[in-house]
Amino acid sequence: MGAGFLGAAYLWVKAAHVIFVIFWMAGMFIFPRYLVHHQEGLGDPAEEARWTTREAKLRRIILTPAMIAVWVIGLALAVNIGLLEGIQGLAWLHAKLLVVFLLSGYHGWAVGYSKKLAKGQAGLSNRGLRMMNEVPALAVTIIVILAVVKPF
Ligand code: HEM
Repeated sequence: MGAGFLGAAYLWVKAAHVIFVIFWMAGMFIFPRYLVHHQEGLGDPAEEARWTTREAKLRRIILTPAMIAVWVIGLALAVNIGLLEGIQGLAWLHAKLLVVFLLSGYHGWAVGYSKKLAKGQAGLSNRGLRMMNEVPALAVTIIVILAVVKPF
């Protein structure tokens, strides 16, 4: 398995990559909003139960499966483009992988925060949590510029 191993399937695989990226990002834009509403509803057991269920469904059905698919297909594209052979001109991909790694860390943090909220624990202030909501948009902007423009 090396550069070019995807052969004629390359463009289909890249299309699948972008499709799962859209699913993952859709989840990453909605999920933090759920956390804000959940935290503002703490103290009302019916409201808390509703958000806990919604977060669990979003995590299980969209967020986690989409992230796994983006990584698996993305790494296949990375092998296809010659990452394992150390081909020149892939600095954009190295930088992209770093930002995607950080975004995956944010994903993990948000899932952990949701589990804390399910126990009625709020770690950040409402304002702090709203600020954290902006992280995925910033990350996506950087990642897509790196992936499409390939500036270095
Ligand atoms: C999870 C780790 C990821 C890896 C290993 C990865 C790897 C890659 C590779 C190697 C390509 C280039 C394929 C080529 O042109 O031959 C690519 C394309 C692309 N990736 Fe990713 N990617 C990942 C995550 C993401 C994420 C999170 C986003 C967006 C938020 C993203 C957006 C894109 C886009 C838009 C393209 C198409 C670029 C173009 O055709 O010009 N990728 N990815």
